[in-house]
Amino acid sequence: MKGLICAMDLEMKKIREDMKNVKEEKQAGITFVCGNIDETEVVAAVCGVGKVNAAICTQAMIDRFSPDCILNVGVAGSLSKELDVTDIVVADKLVQHDFDCTALGCKPGEIYGSDQRFFMADPSVAEKLMKAIDVINGRRSASGEKALHAVTGSIASGDQFISSAEKKSFITSEFGSLACEMEGASIAQVCVANRVPFGVIRAISDSADESSHMDFGEFCIKAADNSAEVVKVFLSE
Ligand code: ADE
Repeated sequence: MKGLICAMDLEMKKIREDMKNVKEEKQAGITFVCGNIDETEVVAAVCGVGKVNAAICTQAMIDRFSPDCILNVGVAGSLSKELDVTDIVVADKLVQHDFDCTALGCKPGEIYGSDQRFFMADPSVAEKLMKAIDVINGRRSASGEKALHAVTGSIASGDQFISSAEKKSFITSEFGSLACEMEGASIAQVCVANRVPFGVIRAISDSADESSHMDFGEFCIKAADNSAEVVKVFLSE
């Protein structure tokens, strides 16, 4: 069984529409929707925004459903000039940009007591997500549709909607991340602690600078639908 976690309903919308034979169950205040997408059994949950919501959901999903893989799916702010709205980032590693014990001698993002800043995504999951994007681009080129632009790299998570050039430049210079969001790294930490393979796929909804709230309103749904499209193909491969 594959686990799918989104922060917001609009990120789950397309995935939910693809699910058949659904059954719902509540755990820790979160609704887990079990069913199948084509031949694959899935459990899908909207966790709410932020790292604590995401961690609660991930641990509850693992405890109750024992998924063999978890995907975090949704939208993100761009931290790179190369990444425009609706482009895709597949995480190779994740960091909590707001974890700050620097006053105690840690590096920014370092989890106190662990020596660890980055949580590595499962390389085979990341590779399979990129392959799914190739499949979609093959279909899109046949139908004359614009190809998805996708890159692999680091994603930074924190309990902040990033909307300033200054904050952006802190995250890029400190962590080299390509995109920012609010859940991926906490899902990563819980998956690593439980030895569950995981991947994170995010499509860009905004520029994460002073105009991010306007971009977000305009591009969030299109970006969310791009991420969901990749997940559907991932599950069918
Ligand atoms: N998710 C989408 N855009 C974001 C941003 N700018 N900051 C944090 N999370 C986001």
